[in-house]
Amino acid sequence: MLIETMSDHDMRLAMLPYAGALKVVNMYAETIMEELFANKRSNPVEHIKSRLKRPSSIARKLEKKGYEPTMENALKYIDDIAGVRIVCLFPKDIYKIAEVIQNFSNIRVCRVKDYIKVPKKNGYRSYHMHIEVPIRLLDHEEWVKVEIQLRTVAMDSWASMEHKIRYKQRKDIPDTVSCRLLECAQLTAELDESMQQLNEEIERI
Ligand code: GTP
Ligand code: MG
Repeated sequence: MLIETMSDHDMRLAMLPYAGALKVVNMYAETIMEELFANKRSNPVEHIKSRLKRPSSIARKLEKKGYEPTMENALKYIDDIAGVRIVCLFPKDIYKIAEVIQNFSNIRVCRVKDYIKVPKKNGYRSYHMHIEVPIRLLDHEEWVKVEIQLRTVAMDSWASMEHKIRYKQRKDIPDTVSCRLLECAQLTAELDESMQQLNEEIERI
């Protein structure tokens, strides 16, 4: 069914499993955060944000990928209809939390993209996990896709500013601006590294 012809009722029904999956993953993430906090009395997670992709964005993304903008294609080809972003203080916390998520018995990890070890050409850094969680509906259970993005505060600020400057821009931005964005990304990587070292020094005292 074409997304733009769907009624509000049909759309709400189609998105229901994703809304459920968001709640479940949010709850898992908050529980991990609380346990880390209880253990160390300092919170490595700055904040957790979640969102459902709007139908118009789903349709736009499908068209960009060359698919007809139908709900069937969205279920098949779009991995980030439900998205959870976990923003941490230091890079090491990201890997710690990713490992905990990998070991959840009721989470299937489908794909991991480590843009921290290998940043994108434009400088973008984050750790992406494409996972599935089981959601029980009235008459059946299904595994629902969620994209988890793990970032530091510094990576998150760069991504938000870069998004504002470039991501949604229709026309290309000048090379000089791209170069400076890349330089800024490298600065945030240095900042993350230095702050992590300082934190480790203090923890050793
Ligand atoms: P897409 O979601 O179609 O991009 O799929 P993909 O397989 O290319 O995934 P990718 O990991 O590149 O991007 C997924 C999400 O990460 C995006 O929806 C953004 O939220 C974020 N992201 C990826 N690249 C960038 C970038 O260059 N800048 C910013 N600000 N965000 C990005
Ligand atoms: Mg992309």
